[in-house]
Amino acid sequence: MVETLPMDEKYKVHMSKYFEEYNRSLTDMDGFWNEKAKIIDWFKPFDKVLDDSKKPFYKWFINGKTNMSYNCLDRYIKTEKRNKVAFIWVSEKGDEKMVTYYGLYRRVNAFARGLLNLGIKRGDKVTIYMPMILETPIAMLACARIGAVFNVVFSGFGEEALAQRINDSNSKTVITADGGYRKGKIIELKNLVDKAIDLSRGVDNVIVVKNANNKINMEQDRDYYYDDIIEEGYVKPEELDSNDPLFILYTSGTTGKPKGILHGNGGYPVWIANTLKWAFDPKDEDRWWCAADIGWITGHSYIVFAPLLLGLTSIMYEGAIDHPKPDRMWDIIEKYGVNILHTSPTAIRLLMKYGEKYPKGHDLSSLKTLGTVGEPINPAAWHWYYEVIGKNKCPIIDTYWQTETGGFTVSPSLNLGIPDLKPGSATFPLPGIEPAVFDENGNNVKPGEKGYIVIKRPWPGLMLTVNGDDKRYIETYFSKFKNKYFMGDYAIKDNDGYYWLLGRADEVLKVAGHRIGTMEVEDGLVSMKEIAEAAVFGKPDTIKGDTIIAFATLKDGYDKSPELIEDIKKRIKNNLGPIMVPEEIHIVSAVPKTRSGKIMRRVIKAVYLDQLPGDVSTLENEASVDEIRKAVEIIKGGD
Ligand code: PRX
Repeated sequence: MVETLPMDEKYKVHMSKYFEEYNRSLTDMDGFWNEKAKIIDWFKPFDKVLDDSKKPFYKWFINGKTNMSYNCLDRYIKTEKRNKVAFIWVSEKGDEKMVTYYGLYRRVNAFARGLLNLGIKRGDKVTIYMPMILETPIAMLACARIGAVFNVVFSGFGEEALAQRINDSNSKTVITADGGYRKGKIIELKNLVDKAIDLSRGVDNVIVVKNANNKINMEQDRDYYYDDIIEEGYVKPEELDSNDPLFILYTSGTTGKPKGILHGNGGYPVWIANTLKWAFDPKDEDRWWCAADIGWITGHSYIVFAPLLLGLTSIMYEGAIDHPKPDRMWDIIEKYGVNILHTSPTAIRLLMKYGEKYPKGHDLSSLKTLGTVGEPINPAAWHWYYEVIGKNKCPIIDTYWQTETGGFTVSPSLNLGIPDLKPGSATFPLPGIEPAVFDENGNNVKPGEKGYIVIKRPWPGLMLTVNGDDKRYIETYFSKFKNKYFMGDYAIKDNDGYYWLLGRADEVLKVAGHRIGTMEVEDGLVSMKEIAEAAVFGKPDTIKGDTIIAFATLKDGYDKSPELIEDIKKRIKNNLGPIMVPEEIHIVSAVPKTRSGKIMRRVIKAVYLDQLPGDVSTLENEASVDEIRKAVEIIKGGD
C-alpha cells in the first residue's frame, strides 16, 4: 500500500491550472511554446516553433537568434536587478563572496575579451576543468557570450578521463585553476591538466585561475593566468542561432566511451527557465540553493543558467556538505536564509546518518520548499527530509530528468499546482512532456506494472545530438522504440497517474547520484599492465545508491596480493578520478562471458550478492544455462 501525503490546500487550489497548462502544451504545442519562449529575449524572433522534418533531429525555434550570456546578464543591467546579488559564493573554508548581476556582467565581459584576445572565437571548443569557484560560471558565460562551445569536465575526474574529453570535444583551449579544495585537501587541477595534455592532441591555450596557490608549472606561450588576460570593457554578445551548440557535457552509457551530449542556444534556455519556474515557483526575493556540482548537468542547468535566467539569488558552495562538520549544510541555510534547497538523495541519506541533532541545532525556518534530484529517493529519506528538515511544511519537489533532457521532465509543479505527494514518486510530467511506460515491444504496460519510461514527443530541452556522432544519438535514444525518446530507466505509472522512477534499466551505475558507465571503469582497469579482463557492477549501498565492485583476471606473470589491489585502486583514482574507484576488486581465474563475448555482469552480481534465481536462464539473454553454471563456479571459486 502506497501512502499519500495530502498537501496543504494552498497548493492544491491551482491543480486545475496544472491540467489546463499541461493539456494545452500537448494540444496547442505551437501556441504554448510561442508564449513560453518569451521567458528569454530573442535578438531575432523565430519563424517556427518546431521543425520535425528530420526526426529524431528536432529543431526548436527556427531561425531565432539569441545569446545565453545576454539573457542571464545584459537584460538586467538597465533594470532594478542590476545591483541584486546573483551569486553568494561560500568556500569550504567558510569565506564568502557576493557578486551582483552588474558585477557578474562586468566580469563575464572582461573574460570574454580575454578569450577573444587569445584568438578564441565562435564555434571553438573550450574545456573547463574548474573547482566550484565564481570563475567557473564566469567562464561558461564568457564562452556563451562569444559563441565558443564549452565542455565542463567535473573536477573530480582524473587525467585520462580529462584527456579523453579534451580530445573528443576537440578543445584547443582549457580553462582551469591551480587547485581546488576538497575536504581540506588541495586537488592539483593544473598538474592534472598538464598530464592530460600529454595524453591529448593540440591544446594551444591553458588559462589558469589562481585559487589554491599551490605550486604549478606554467608553460611559456601556452599557459596564461586568468588575471593577466582579462580586460575590462564591453563585448557584444554573438547573435547565435537557436540550434547552434551551447555546450557539450559528457555522460556515461552502457557501451563505448562517454557520450558528448550537445545542448543548444534556444531550446535549452527556454526549457530550463520554464521548468525551474514551474517546479519550484521561486520568487524574486527568494534565496535558491542547488547543492550540486557545476561539473554535472544539475549544476549547469540549475546552479548557473536557470537561476540567472529568472534573475534569482543563488548560493554556490565550494565544498563537501559534511565538511568540516556534519552540520555544514544546515549552517549555510541558517546563515544565508536559504528558502529553497535542491539536493540529492545521497546527500539526504548521508546527513540523515549523522542524526537529527545537527539540523536541530540550526534555525531552518527560512526553508519553504525542498527538492531532490539524481536518483530514486527511498521513503525513509523522503520522510526525514520532509519532517526533520522541512518541519512538515515544505513540499518536496522530486525532479526526474537526465543530462540529455536538459532540465526537469517529471516533477511536482508548485507554480501550476501540486498534487498530494507520494513519498518516492516524482508525480506528474511537466508541460510539454508526454511520457509513457512501455513493455519490450513498445506497448503500454498496465497501470501499476513496471516498464521502460519513454517520452513520446520532443520538447525544447532535448539534446541536439551526441557530439560528432549522430548515429549514436539515434541508436542510443531512438532505436529501441522508434521515434520515442528512450530514457533508459524503469518506471511504473500507478492508478492515479503518478510516475515512480525505479532506476536504470541498463548497466549504468549511480554512485552518489553520479552516472558511471560500467564499461568506463572496466576500460580503466584493463588499461593497466597487470589486468587482462574486468567486469564491473554496482552493489546496492544504503547511502550512495551503488558502490562499484570489480572482478578481474591478471595477465600471466602477475600474482594477486593486497598491495597490488591497493596500487590498482590508486592508479584508477589518478587516471579516472576518485568517484570511479571500485570499493572491492576481486581477482578471479576468468571473467565469465557469453559465446558472443558479452560479459555476464548480471550473473557475477547475483553470485556476489548471493541472489541467484532458481531459473538461471533468466539472468542473461544471450547465455546458455551451461555457460551460466560455469560462470557461477568460477565466481564462487573466486579470491
Ligand atoms: O536513472 C535516472 C536518474 O539519473 C539518471 C540521469 O543521470 P544524469 O544524466 O547524471 O542526471 C542526473 C541529474 C538529473 C536518470 O536516467 N534520476 C535522475 N533523477 C531522478 C532519477 N531517478 C529517480 N528519481 C529522480 N528524481
